[in-house]
Amino acid sequence: MFIFMNSTTCQETSLLVTAGLAIHSFGNFPEKKLSDAAMTGGRVDDDRAAMVTSDKDGIAGPTTITFIMDMGREAMELNGKIALVTGAGQGIGKAIALALAEAGAQVVINDIREPDAEELRRDPANIFRYTANVTRKRETEEMFRWVKTKFGRLDILVNNVGIIKDKSIFKMEEEDWDRVLETNLKSCFLCSQQAAFIMAEQKSGRIINISSRAWLGGYGQANYSASKGGIISLTRTLAIELAKHGITVNAIAPGLIDSPMYQSFRDDVKERLLKMQPVNRIGKPEDVAYAVLFFASDRASYITGQTLYVCGGKSLFSGIQ
Ligand SMILES: NC(=O)c1ccc[n+]([C@@H]2O[C@H](COP(=O)([O-])OP(=O)(O)OC[C@H]3O[C@@H](n4cnc5c(N)ncnc54)[C@H](O)[C@@H]3O)[C@@H](O)[C@H]2O)c1
Repeated sequence: MFIFMNSTTCQETSLLVTAGLAIHSFGNFPEKKLSDAAMTGGRVDDDRAAMVTSDKDGIAGPTTITFIMDMGREAMELNGKIALVTGAGQGIGKAIALALAEAGAQVVINDIREPDAEELRRDPANIFRYTANVTRKRETEEMFRWVKTKFGRLDILVNNVGIIKDKSIFKMEEEDWDRVLETNLKSCFLCSQQAAFIMAEQKSGRIINISSRAWLGGYGQANYSASKGGIISLTRTLAIELAKHGITVNAIAPGLIDSPMYQSFRDDVKERLLKMQPVNRIGKPEDVAYAVLFFASDRASYITGQTLYVCGGKSLFSGIQ
């Protein structure tokens, strides 16, 4: 993953290098600043460093620096890994799938909706599509069989699929309860079970479940909160059962994320929700994808059964405000 950045001091550079980020630089980047960065313990790419030229005033004075940071790419490298993301035709799942593909994995995008020709045309070569309803056992089994036949293995499963049907307890129908529990929680069980069969055989694997901050409770979300709390309990239990098979299982609990699901809210609701955010913005699908990349990476091999909040601090408050 590359970040393009303009800066006037080398302080940010040093901080980033200290944080373990490798920096490749080019453009007007004074040599002293480059060596300062290197002295903090980071790695500076020698080839690119050779291209570096001092600005016209030498090392002193404000300089516009343009550099590319290779953001922990080695740590997040997923070359040769096979990943499957459920409900990834749009929104958060799509961002997760693209991030995994960018990190080098071969990624299967599952969705209940058939992709259109334009989506297929845009797919990078390491993205594959499989249409299936993951609440149905037979369709789910067929999808995992297809993955095993095509790739011979499965390294990463992201249980992302999820829907909402918010209503107060006085208005919630049995069908609202069943659909949400089935789509959000049963699918997680069905897919995790199929993945576990494959991963246990190969003695390695990562299961990453997308829960929600709403598992803590949310007005009008009895069905959704229960399903997302269920995902956290399932995550913990599977982590216990699967650890000895070399499989880690973790959950991510996003807060408000700007996806089609969020866009479906009324404007006044969106405004009210934004006011309740400690970090004064709505999250991006990529914010969740970065957390998935971490759990999928070698660096997270000693972490299992955990829930990581990606919610701009919203989990610090109760559901009633
Ligand atoms: N958007 C948010 O603010 C937010 C916050 C917290 C958690 N989440 C969770 O993140 C996940 C993704 O949310 P999103 O906002 O991207 O949702 P989204 O509605 O934008 O996308 C969900 C995708 O799942 C697919 N899908 C639905 N039912 C399916 C099924 N039975 N089988 C296969 N695919 C199916 C849909 O076609 C859609 O493409 C969900 O689990 C959601 O609960 C979202």
